[in-house]
Amino acid sequence: MVIHPIIADPVSEFAEEVCNGLNKPGQKELPSKYLYDEVGSRLFEVICALPEYGLTRADERLLRKHAREIVERVRGEVVVAELGSGSGKKTRWILEALSRHRPTSYYPIEISATALAMCERELADIDAISIVGCEREYLDGLLEVAARRLRGQRLLVLFLGSTIGNFDRPADISFLREMRLILEPGDALLLGTDLEKPVLQLIDAYDDPLGVTAAFNLNLLARINRELDADFVLERYAHAARFNADTRSIEMHISSACDQMVTIKKAGLSVPFQKGETIWTETSHKYSVEEVADMAEHAGFRCDAQWIDHEWPFAENLLIAE
Ligand code: TRP
Repeated sequence: MVIHPIIADPVSEFAEEVCNGLNKPGQKELPSKYLYDEVGSRLFEVICALPEYGLTRADERLLRKHAREIVERVRGEVVVAELGSGSGKKTRWILEALSRHRPTSYYPIEISATALAMCERELADIDAISIVGCEREYLDGLLEVAARRLRGQRLLVLFLGSTIGNFDRPADISFLREMRLILEPGDALLLGTDLEKPVLQLIDAYDDPLGVTAAFNLNLLARINRELDADFVLERYAHAARFNADTRSIEMHISSACDQMVTIKKAGLSVPFQKGETIWTETSHKYSVEEVADMAEHAGFRCDAQWIDHEWPFAENLLIAE
């Protein structure tokens, strides 16, 4: 099995995006994709193992249990593209089920080089699968994979872990629509969606008592210190997870414990913080089962099947491009 990594232009937009986010009038914000550097990717792996964060285990349970049925619904020769593969652990079940019948190409699309390396290591032992890592943003990577597919091959796109919930409504539908434009009729999208559940359970999942999620979120400031030569004093910031009932989402923030000033040398920026002021880093929307099918239809897919985990309400949705 050969690995040919596809590497994006090494142009860093980090400084520019940090500058724009922290200069925003009103709510300061930082893009969540920057949470996943080497430290962040490893911390996220730990989050997935926490008893309070049931999401990843639910996703994995469903895939393990139903992989066969899922791949049987996608006929013909299949090329698999995964948006945000992470460690690749969950993907094993799908790839094994596919490779039982046919040799398969698997393209993990990841902006995190650390996650990509973890994923390639994790899945290297599946013989009939060739892995081609693609270090790109989601849609750029998907365009590239679509361009490489041969006539008659079907694309099966995996978008697991409920990352779709990190888009605001209705940007989640727009994203599905953009994806649909890259696909051909008959191509498939396996979409993982975290479902609504009691607020306290959600708060615990996103603010665990060990403090791993806090470390994960605050690592974003540590990363800015490391890479952009900034002077955030981490002890003066705290992680905060808040439930927003209007949007049915959990919002992650970093809250300033006092009035303070930060200098980010490589972004040419000094930013004041007031006590209690926050930087918004991520939102995680929770769905109802019916809503997902609706959303899919609005984006040009047919919802072919849904599998639901009842231990940690979560749905795997198989959508077929129309
Ligand atoms: N985006 C993922 C989610 O919504 C990952 C995540 C878990 C996360 N905990 C977090 C992102 C804390 C930011 C902060 O579940």
